[in-house]
Amino acid sequence: MDAAPLLALLLAAVSLSAAAAGDGAHPGYSDEGTCTVDAAGAGVGSGPELRRLEERRPGRIIDITHAYVPDLLAFAPGAVTGPLVHLKESMANGSEYNLSELRLECHMGTHVDAPGHMNQGHFAAGLDVDTLDLDVLNGPALLVDVPRDTNITAEAMEFLNIPRGVRRVLFRTLNTDRKLMWRKGGDMSYVGFTEDGAQWLVDNTDIKLVGIDSLSVAAFEHLISAHVVFFKTPDIIPVEGLKLDNIETGIYMLHCLPLRLVGAEGAPTRCILIK
Ligand SMILES: *[C@@H]1O[C@H](CO)[C@@H](O)[C@H](O)[C@H]1NC(C)=O
Ligand SMILES: *[C@@H]1O[C@H](CO)[C@@H](O)[C@H](O)[C@H]1NC(C)=O
Ligand SMILES: *[C@@H]1O[C@H](CO)[C@@H](O)[C@H](O)[C@H]1NC(C)=O
Repeated sequence: MDAAPLLALLLAAVSLSAAAAGDGAHPGYSDEGTCTVDAAGAGVGSGPELRRLEERRPGRIIDITHAYVPDLLAFAPGAVTGPLVHLKESMANGSEYNLSELRLECHMGTHVDAPGHMNQGHFAAGLDVDTLDLDVLNGPALLVDVPRDTNITAEAMEFLNIPRGVRRVLFRTLNTDRKLMWRKGGDMSYVGFTEDGAQWLVDNTDIKLVGIDSLSVAAFEHLISAHVVFFKTPDIIPVEGLKLDNIETGIYMLHCLPLRLVGAEGAPTRCILIK
């Protein structure tokens, strides 16, 4: 089905006034522990002030990717993540260069799942993150607010009333209000899809990209079952761990570009919205 006319309709229906967020660095990030370059450090002098922008030209390009910091939220309670970026060679220790290495579980931070994540047949068939369809990962997307008193159940999906033809939806939930992605891991009361919510999406919508503001698209009590529903056919892409704070609901151009990790069932991805 051609999504264009439907999206035009939605455009008319949804308020698209400028996004609400300010223009500075996100207040959720402290400067401590990030792999930042010290502007006052050796050789840099009084260079330009470093700013980690969450929006470029406020409201126009919105970064919905969480920064990879050493205390990045990990899924399992008590899981230790950092340091993610580690200096292997360091000028401070006499090397002629600085050289960092990256250590990262593939399902940390903002990331995509490949169908092989919870479907052995797809994994065996080689459906890794490198086979995900960039056409699904890039295009018009709808940001919706899920009612805050519920997981994403069949009832909640029905209530959201997302029209046929919409292929990419970012579901903002209570997780954003609770700032769960800004905390250390272990809170399994996050909101996600229940099995019947996932089934309702598969049966009644054309959604192929399912974005969510928690590390898992599935509520903890439905962790396996909801994923299994999504991965029954390999054409639905969950994009997890999105940063959806302070953005107006509505339609944006979404761009997600996962790393081409051959053989992996998950990969970090940079995702941005463009108005
Ligand atoms: C190189 O790494 C050191 C830490 O060993 C740091 O102080 C310095 O700013 C880095 N230099 C550059 C050019 O990144
Ligand atoms: C430099 O070497 C010291 C001593 O071996 C070590 O404790 C420190 O972590 C090193 N720093 C970096 C940036 O590699
Ligand atoms: C969502 O489900 C989780 C269990 O997976 C539960 O702890 C939580 O309270 C539910 N949230 C809401 C808003 O119903």
